[in-house]
Amino acid sequence: MILTFYVVFYAFLTAVFVLSMWVMLQTIDEYNPKYADRLANPGLMIRPKLDTLEIVYSINAQNASWQKYVNGLNTVLQDYNTTVQELRGTNCTSGVYNKQDDTGDVRNYPKKACQFTREKLGDCSGLGLNPTYGYESGKPCVLIKMNRVINFFPEIIPSLSNTSITIKCTGKNDEYDRLLGERLYFPSTKGNLGSIDLMYFPYYGNRAQKNYTQPFVAVQFLNATRDYDHNVECRVNAANINNQDDRDKFQGRVIFRLRINS
Ligand SMILES: *[C@@H]1O[C@H](CO)[C@@H](O)[C@H](O)[C@H]1NC(C)=O
Ligand SMILES: *[C@@H]1O[C@H](CO)[C@@H](O)[C@H](O)[C@H]1NC(C)=O
Ligand SMILES: *[C@@H]1O[C@H](CO)[C@@H](O)[C@H](O)[C@H]1NC(C)=O
Ligand SMILES: *[C@@H]1O[C@H](CO)[C@@H](O)[C@H](O)[C@H]1NC(C)=O
Ligand SMILES: *[C@@H]1O[C@H](CO)[C@@H](O)[C@H](O)[C@H]1NC(C)=O
Ligand SMILES: *[C@@H]1O[C@H](CO)[C@@H](O)[C@H](O)[C@H]1NC(C)=O
Repeated sequence: MILTFYVVFYAFLTAVFVLSMWVMLQTIDEYNPKYADRLANPGLMIRPKLDTLEIVYSINAQNASWQKYVNGLNTVLQDYNTTVQELRGTNCTSGVYNKQDDTGDVRNYPKKACQFTREKLGDCSGLGLNPTYGYESGKPCVLIKMNRVINFFPEIIPSLSNTSITIKCTGKNDEYDRLLGERLYFPSTKGNLGSIDLMYFPYYGNRAQKNYTQPFVAVQFLNATRDYDHNVECRVNAANINNQDDRDKFQGRVIFRLRINS
């Protein structure tokens, strides 16, 4: 009697276990990681990035101390050549999310990527008359990127732009900002802020959207005070991104050192 009870009892437990495993496996979707979007406060990063977050070089050095930065940018921007982008991506509509929903169980896969060509980086594209990205002439360009967060829809701040989220680089206070000199952004909003168009969001993950191209904002420092350590803070401005977290200096921003020796 007791034996029968245990046999039935364990058979029942096993069945419950197998069933719950099966249900769980059914809900795992390798194309669409469910929990990735919890980390919804992206950080920023710069390119070129060597060992440390600093761009330090000398304009008059015979040995071209800026060459390593130029090489870094050349490498990063290879994939942004028009020839490459035309194969990998489509020409998307500015100001509109590149939303590509699945229809119930029917996967909309592979998902298309939007083109980001080097030309969008203007004087910082490394094309044409400025193959050293301004480094040689003491007007260096630095690329800012926002780390990818799967299925994240950054929201605009209408007073800044209705089609993009924006990037701004500043000194720590007014005095430091003045020493940092005039800055240009590419691409930029009408109000001269760096601009990341909504068309580059959401990112659907490497599996579903293999051709995704990371958008950049280039900031060019036209007249930074020479022989001076600048601490440059670049922040992304979006309605749903926190860029003021004192505990995490990489949330919604990046800080780097810039020094141009004469
Ligand atoms: C370039 O020259 C400076 C001083 O002349 C030196 O400190 C620096 O290490 C040199 N850089 C390279 C990459 O050779
Ligand atoms: C991209 O364009 C640059 C400049 O025109 C060129 O030097 C480079 O070889 C190109 N790279 C690719 C992968 O097409
Ligand atoms: C991804 O890029 C390759 C070329 O690198 C292209 O052949 C392919 O069609 C692209 N896929 C999509 C979904 O656009
Ligand atoms: C992409 O669209 C823009 C504006 O909508 C247009 O100026 C450009 O020529 C288009 N490029 C291609 C390759 O179709
Ligand atoms: C965004 O749109 C609103 C409402 O149409 C408008 O008031 C605002 O000026 C626009 N913002 C920019 C930066 O153009
Ligand atoms: C560059 O900055 C210096 C001071 O740091 C200033 O005197 C000069 O007018 C600036 N030049 C331009 C073109 O803004």
